[in-house]
Amino acid sequence: MEGRGDLEAILLVGGKGTRLRPLTLSVPKPLLPTAGVPFLAHQLARARAYGVRRIVFATSYRASMFAEAFGDGSSFGLELAYMTEETPLGTGGAIRNAAEALTSPPGAPVLILNGDILSGHDIGAQVERHVTAGAAVTLHLTEVDDPSRFGCVPTDESGRVTAFLEKTPNPVTNRINAGCYVFTRSVIDTIPAGEVVSVERETFPGLIEAGEQVLGYADRSYWLDVGTPAAFVQGSRDLVLGTLSSPALPGPPGEVLALPGAMIPSDAKVGGGTVVGAGAVVESGAQVSGSVIGAGAVIRAGAVVSDSVVGTGARIESGAVVRDSVVGDEAVVGPGNELRAGARLWPGVHLPACAVRFSSDV
Ligand code: GDD
Ligand code: MG
Repeated sequence: MEGRGDLEAILLVGGKGTRLRPLTLSVPKPLLPTAGVPFLAHQLARARAYGVRRIVFATSYRASMFAEAFGDGSSFGLELAYMTEETPLGTGGAIRNAAEALTSPPGAPVLILNGDILSGHDIGAQVERHVTAGAAVTLHLTEVDDPSRFGCVPTDESGRVTAFLEKTPNPVTNRINAGCYVFTRSVIDTIPAGEVVSVERETFPGLIEAGEQVLGYADRSYWLDVGTPAAFVQGSRDLVLGTLSSPALPGPPGEVLALPGAMIPSDAKVGGGTVVGAGAVVESGAQVSGSVIGAGAVIRAGAVVSDSVVGTGARIESGAVVRDSVVGDEAVVGPGNELRAGARLWPGVHLPACAVRFSSDV
């Protein structure tokens, strides 16, 4: 569904992204290069496609970097505004603070987006459901295997939300809050101003308790929270492969996305949705699959990289193996080293050549 064409949104991007360190030490999570562009570019382009015209960024951590990246939004056909919390106000406080910059009247629907979500759902249909029902809030819901890491959201048979249980150890359903809400503008104005408020722990349970109409919009489209390194790599891979289509992908979907100046000789094995950053070099005989290779990084002949992030200017030397790991910017993995299963190398760290020789090597 194309949508109303005049919708305003608030984008929550004030979190510190601690689970994505060291990637987020210098760049906030929503700006991490993902399938060739800052992560948010995919969200902005999809929101625009569903009729959003104006977005207020709710920023805190490294706030100025967002305006530097997206400016007034005209390159996306959007109007962007920026609101900053001196100290983080939590998700509810951030929504209330950003709402000062909205232009929508009290009865209008306003979209709220978590800034770390890739979703293929039909935003226009979610808004339509909200407006038709005259709801206070309509939450996009999805299903996951482990709901204890999310907001667990049971509904009745009519789709009305009966409880909101944030990160509960005993989830009552696999259905969770997918991080995209439609609020009626006047409901946002009931959140107390200038206070730390959690929309998940206070606002939603409070509205349900008060008997307000909180609806679920459940579907089974593509959905991913990119809050961990493994999920971040998966999101980039899915965008490059076209598993989730994005109007912001800088090239056709396929096995590899090579950014300008990337060098990939024909006898290097690169695929599985890998993005090779601007000016990065993959040497002959190197193997790279399903990974994010940063700008100016070098993957030497005979190195193997899979399902990993290799930071800007980092180097993976011959014979080194990097699987399911993160190599920080400008770090070096010397010959013979192996990083596996969630290993994280901090920026600038040099792992020297592995001195141990195995009997098979001599
Ligand atoms: N401006 C601002 N200020 N933004 C914030 C603040 C704040 O104080 N705290 C968090 N955010 C932003 C984050 O940047 C992110 O975009 C969003 O709010 C959600 O925060 P996360 O830290 O990513 O939360 P989560 O992933 O643990 O849980 C949330 O998302 C899940 C879906 O991915 C909750 O909404 C869960 O209920 C939900 O299931
Ligand atoms: Mg998150």
